[in-house]
Amino acid sequence: MDIFPEERPVGSGFCGGEDAMEEAARIAERAGPELVDINYGCPVNKVVNKGAGACLLQDVDKMVRLTEKVVKAVKLPVTVKTRLGWSDQTKNIMEVAERLQDVGIQALSIHGRTRAQLYKGPADWTLIGEVKNNPRIHIPIFGNGDIDSPEKALEYRNRYGVDGLMIGRASIGAPWIFNQIEALLRHRRTPATANTGRPRGCRSRTL
Ligand SMILES: Cc1cc2nc3c(=O)[nH]c(=O)nc-3n(C[C@H](O)[C@H](O)[C@H](O)COP(=O)(O)O)c2cc1C
Repeated sequence: MDIFPEERPVGSGFCGGEDAMEEAARIAERAGPELVDINYGCPVNKVVNKGAGACLLQDVDKMVRLTEKVVKAVKLPVTVKTRLGWSDQTKNIMEVAERLQDVGIQALSIHGRTRAQLYKGPADWTLIGEVKNNPRIHIPIFGNGDIDSPEKALEYRNRYGVDGLMIGRASIGAPWIFNQIEALLRHRRTPATANTGRPRGCRSRTL
């Protein structure tokens, strides 16, 4: 959990399904990030079978209870990442968003798929937009799923009105995508790129 200065701002993410989450949050806080983020979106069996990650989408009362404990356990802002719901028949993100906001989370990132979908099919941003436009919701809403270019980032940000975007797979092997998107969103232009798509003058850190 070492944090390099050039990485800031940093959110430390963790998942869990039991009271140990409070301790995890305190450990995450001690590492000195800007915020701690609870992952209620992870769909993999080894996580879900332990009652963690997206599993909590099946028990919103428990999700809310655990989140409230984490919010009270740390001084840092607590944010949450999750999915639309457990399955197509149980898309409960609107209830999840309202209730987690009520117990004090400070931002919500929504992956536009259900747990049952895993990574199959295109992400559906419709419900993400509905959560953002819910007049009850005042915390920032971040949209996530299938953003893989600055142009798509701009299009989806404008179409669904989200406060921010979360990018996963498109950044693997191409971490400069964040600079490229930021340049387009802020200045409506893409930085000059070499053949690799890497912006000129963008230094990378060797790991
Ligand atoms: C290898 C891998 C690891 C991931 N790890 C996390 C994680 O630790 N926490 C989290 O919230 N999401 C994690 N995700 C999910 C992504 O944040 C994101 O929700 C998902 O990949 C869809 O967005 P994308 O289309 O931009 O990739 C992971 C995804 C992948 C492919």
